[in-house]
Amino acid sequence: MYEELERRLRRAVEAEMPAAPVLDILVRPCAEARFGDYQTNSLIGLGKRLGCDSRQLAARVRDRMDCSDLCEAVDVVGAGFLNFKVRDEAVARELAEAQAGRHLFFRKAEKPRTIVVDFSSPNVAKPMHVGHIRSTILGDCLARVFRRLGHRVIKDNHVGDWGTQFGKLLVGWKERSGAARMQGDRLAEMERLYKEVNQACESDPAVLEAARQELVKLQQGDPENLALWRHMRDVSMEQFEIIYRRMGIEFDATLGESFYRDRLAGIVADLQAQGLAQESEGAMVVFFEDDPELKAHPAIILKRDGASNYTTTDLATIEHRLREWAPDEIVYVTDGRQQLHFRQLFAVFRRWHPESKVDLRHIWFGSILGEDGKPFKTRSGEVIKLADLLDEAEDRAYRVVSDKNPGLSEAAKREIGRVVGIGAIKYADLLPNRQSDYVFSWDKMLSLTGNTAPYLLYAYTRIRSIFRKMEEGPEAAAAAAGLRFDLGAAEESRLARHLLNFGFVLEQVAAECRPNYLCNYLYDLAGHFNRFFESCPVLQSEGVQRASRVALCGLTARVLREGLDALGLETTDQM
Ligand code: ARG
Repeated sequence: MYEELERRLRRAVEAEMPAAPVLDILVRPCAEARFGDYQTNSLIGLGKRLGCDSRQLAARVRDRMDCSDLCEAVDVVGAGFLNFKVRDEAVARELAEAQAGRHLFFRKAEKPRTIVVDFSSPNVAKPMHVGHIRSTILGDCLARVFRRLGHRVIKDNHVGDWGTQFGKLLVGWKERSGAARMQGDRLAEMERLYKEVNQACESDPAVLEAARQELVKLQQGDPENLALWRHMRDVSMEQFEIIYRRMGIEFDATLGESFYRDRLAGIVADLQAQGLAQESEGAMVVFFEDDPELKAHPAIILKRDGASNYTTTDLATIEHRLREWAPDEIVYVTDGRQQLHFRQLFAVFRRWHPESKVDLRHIWFGSILGEDGKPFKTRSGEVIKLADLLDEAEDRAYRVVSDKNPGLSEAAKREIGRVVGIGAIKYADLLPNRQSDYVFSWDKMLSLTGNTAPYLLYAYTRIRSIFRKMEEGPEAAAAAAGLRFDLGAAEESRLARHLLNFGFVLEQVAAECRPNYLCNYLYDLAGHFNRFFESCPVLQSEGVQRASRVALCGLTARVLREGLDALGLETTDQM
């Protein structure tokens, strides 16, 4: 609906003043229903820019705008807002189209983009921890939203499998690991080795030197070290896979840092030959003299000891992605501490390939804190392992479900506990503004009231249960209405109007990479539905009204399910 109003508004502006920049003219849902359904404030800015009275401009544009079929009123308000009050018939028409399966209140992009989403990207030989969970959940959600909107998406897991940690790990493996110990939790054993050697390095320069030499040997292709490295990588990847499977996350590509290792020297040479990089204190560095923000932060592309480098690897990665997929956009999802890295990376890349049109975006997020406000750790101060976290979520959700609905079979409780538990973790991660830190709280995320996964999943099951009670099945009942929607009650009208904005919200999420918009939209949708359901009898009503209400329930369920799925949440039919 907002798109159609926007189109017509732009046409009217163009007719009024042919030179106006119409792409800046936007129509948005009204924040408050009493002002109308949609609003534009674009004419205020336009009037100011052109030095004319914005209110008069708004009135003239309104008079030229032809939308009487959609709106019962278009009001000029305040400094030059236009408020649109949409006709019930127009809302009902959209609902009928959705009911007929023509859309679900969103349209696929007319010009699909190719988008690489770089997310999760844990480091080999270290257990995946809560720091990676946010990237995994956020990145997967963004990929899902882009795909829904018709874009071509490549999900690439840029695993850290070629870092300096391998020098220490190799020392540990060769000198400190009992082969027998490697039978049990091998990832935990690797972590233990790493910590042990890391500590030894701090007090004993000889160990540090040994680690350096093992690393150089590995990077020069020493067969023994390569074989050990490969083994460590495989062990880690197996563990990561288990977590991904539990979280319902799949990648289109998993090209770790090691994949690019042979290209690094060539890139350094390239940058040097183009005069972009120079030697400085034994390292190879790119300076940003003309960039006030980065002036004090030159990027190192080759360290003094010649070891491979995060930035150079990322340059090789961009090059590869451009060649392989020709993306319009690459989205990197990591925590906020990497902001400088990505600023440097993008700046070097722009100099290196000034002709490239690819849009590079760093989508960063804040940390997860414990309830004490400090970084989220176990009681004894260890980093929390993702596998343990998922286990606990499922257990706790199982208990919530058992309390709520003791009559369910044990298997059903377990399965629902799984859906709700994993869903709660994901939702708690997506709901806050991604750039703020958030406090991890089991009680909050598993609460059946408030803006939580259990609340939304429960709202969905309520609608499903209405359909279970119906004798004739939802389609038959709705078809009986001849797809005529009756929006006489205020609660019906509000629910219906909210449904129409699903597409707008998906677009907003995609534009700003902010899933919290979708969380809040779904929460409001559940609220509108509950108010509708409390004041409008569905199964007890009759004829057209009944069919219309049943169809409203059905559309609400579909939008809820699609929306939750776009967030990466599974749904369940009962709870
Ligand atoms: N492995 C890195 C880490 O754990 C994240 C990689 C992010 N992606 C990238 N292309 N740099 O911090």
